[in-house]
Amino acid sequence: MESLFFDSLSALLEGETDTIANMANTAALLYETLRDVNWVGFYRMKDNELLLGPFMGKVACVHLPLNKGVCAHAATTKKTIRVDDVHQFATHIACDSATNSEIVVPLMKEGKVLGVLDIDSPLLHRFNEQDEKNLKRVVEILLPHIESV
Ligand code: SME
Repeated sequence: MESLFFDSLSALLEGETDTIANMANTAALLYETLRDVNWVGFYRMKDNELLLGPFMGKVACVHLPLNKGVCAHAATTKKTIRVDDVHQFATHIACDSATNSEIVVPLMKEGKVLGVLDIDSPLLHRFNEQDEKNLKRVVEILLPHIESV
């Protein structure tokens, strides 16, 4: 991901305050930029579960409980989770059987988890440390443009 990507994202979000619109454009930009990904999207923390937000890719599970799955793990530990092989992650929730690896970055404001950014790949070991850094930066750029929903 080059600096041009981050500049494009900042420009796309500039002056916009609507959470859904900003999540939608961020997901679209990531989906068209990243190689070998089959799903890019957001889950929002709502009523003590993760609720499907804007995404690109195949239809996905709408409700994710907080005690199961990679997204919930990232949300409850407040940490970015990289899973090299989702089939080895005991409670992984398979929305698309094509997915083999995954990265989930929590969206946090003042210590509160607003949701997660979830990216899936059909490749094993798709996401490395540099991807993690880049995606954390994406979330940092997005955060001032979203609110709790
Ligand atoms: N795999 C996720 C569920 C969300 S879908 O991949 C879009 C999980 O285990 O939390």
